Amino acid sequence: MSELNNIALKILSNGKGILAADESTGTMTKRLKAVNVESTQENRLLFRETLFSSEGMKKCIGGVILYDETIKQNSISKKTIPELISSSGAVPGIKVDTGAKILASSPNEKITEGLDGLRERLKEYYKLGARFTKWRAVYIISNDYPSKLSIYANAHALARYSALVQENGMVPIVEPEVLMDGEHSAEECFNKTSEVIKKCYEELIKHKVDLKGTILKPNMILPGSSSKNNIDSKKIAELTLKCLKGSVPSEVPGIAFLSGGQSEQEAAKNLNSINLINDTNFIMTYSYGRALQQSALKFWSKDIKNIKGTQDTFNHRAKMCSLASQGKWSEDIEKK
Ligand code: G3H
Repeated sequence: MSELNNIALKILSNGKGILAADESTGTMTKRLKAVNVESTQENRLLFRETLFSSEGMKKCIGGVILYDETIKQNSISKKTIPELISSSGAVPGIKVDTGAKILASSPNEKITEGLDGLRERLKEYYKLGARFTKWRAVYIISNDYPSKLSIYANAHALARYSALVQENGMVPIVEPEVLMDGEHSAEECFNKTSEVIKKCYEELIKHKVDLKGTILKPNMILPGSSSKNNIDSKKIAELTLKCLKGSVPSEVPGIAFLSGGQSEQEAAKNLNSINLINDTNFIMTYSYGRALQQSALKFWSKDIKNIKGTQDTFNHRAKMCSLASQGKWSEDIEKK
């Protein structure tokens, strides 16, 4: 089991974090369409490979979450994508859920699926080089939501997933994402997120998951994206730390936040504020999708052959996130 703890620490330590490049083909198509690039298999691979072979990978990225299509592809250098990632010193990972579907009996909410046949898929992913995995549950906030049913059902699925992943020698990322959408206050986000995370650990413990061999990927505590009550970054950090201290067992080695729709700069600034006052034993780092890739994707879309320029843009973002994970980020460095 210490093997799994070592993998988790390798991914999260020394100013490193996770590049979440596991967009499903549907989501990636949306992202590419938004910048007027055709979503072909070649284009999806070219963009991702450009990031995976950048300098920023070596210093800043401890793990990459891949999608099923990508983990089976080969890079231009003929290496498999997991080999390319490993050669930069990062650990290859894989998203294994099959998406969030309507929750029966509470149709405004979602339940994440993918447990059927998961043991067999995990064995295949391990052979392909994956050493960690991701499963994302999503929750909405409003007066009535998330319901007890969605909190319980998603926690149960996350626990069954985590136990299977550890059985197959990999580290599960447990991702309960309380969405930013809505007018709710940061206090409401705090209350609902605390309840969601506590239930996840109740179920993980019931399913005998070794918490030392897991990573938590939560949302930060923020007001809803349509809320008029803005709060500053220090307050976001205080609420986020208070929530995690009250709901995450101390055995968990580290926490890698999702960006969840924050801009690249907000995601760096808020992570930095968290690390400036981090009084826990948890490593607090990033597992960002959009907040690591947005500007690189925009740059690349203007000339998909400009590999160097795209990599420079990504390297800067990765460096900003890495500095934020050590409490060393600043607005001045951001502008350089
Ligand atoms: O599951 C969510 C992604 O892995 C993280 O994406 O940082 O764009 O929210 P995000």
